[in-house]
Amino acid sequence: MQAVLVTDPEGRSAAVALRMEVFVVEQGVDADIEIDGRDDEAEHAVIFDQSGDGSAVATARLLIVQGVGIVGRVAVRRSARGTGLGAVVMRTIEDRARELELPVLELHAQLSAEGFYARLGYEAFGENYLEAGIPHVSMRKVLTPA
Ligand SMILES: CC(C)(COP(=O)(O)OP(=O)(O)OC[C@H]1O[C@@H](n2cnc3c(N)ncnc32)[C@H](O)[C@@H]1OP(=O)(O)O)[C@@H](O)C(=O)NCCC(=O)NCCS
Repeated sequence: MQAVLVTDPEGRSAAVALRMEVFVVEQGVDADIEIDGRDDEAEHAVIFDQSGDGSAVATARLLIVQGVGIVGRVAVRRSARGTGLGAVVMRTIEDRARELELPVLELHAQLSAEGFYARLGYEAFGENYLEAGIPHVSMRKVLTPA
């Protein structure tokens, strides 16, 4: 399964539709928090459903804030979880970050997903905190050049 990087309005809309399904409908996050106004400046890794309607089944977002790569909005359609798609979108983001010569990636992990990121080499730092009412921990990964 391959993810593509999108920045065009259609690709972005597909990613956002999946995030609405996962974060807003499933997890109860406020839509105003989920849609934070930064999608236009980001790159989005997306896996499209090849056998269905072509909607997004997995996504992750890369933002660059003051030279630091920030990964976020990592979501896999509920019915497709546990099949490796989350890891694929994360690797696509990491490959892109290496291409951009970003030395490090940071993210805010929901505590329930900390193990997922840890398997991919991210390390937790600092105290836990609430974000959108959900317990989170910050994590980072130093990127080795390709
Ligand atoms: C977290 C999420 C993105 C993981 O995606 P996924 O496609 O199910 O994960 P994968 O199948 O690629 O799993 C990769 C590895 O991580 C492990 N893993 C997956 N979810 C995990 C979790 N929540 N905790 C611990 N390990 C996890 C898998 O067992 C697998 O391990 P392996 O390589 O040893 O086989 C997905 O569960 C999801 O969309 N959750 C809802 C939204 C969410 O919470 N996003 C994170 C916001 S910070």
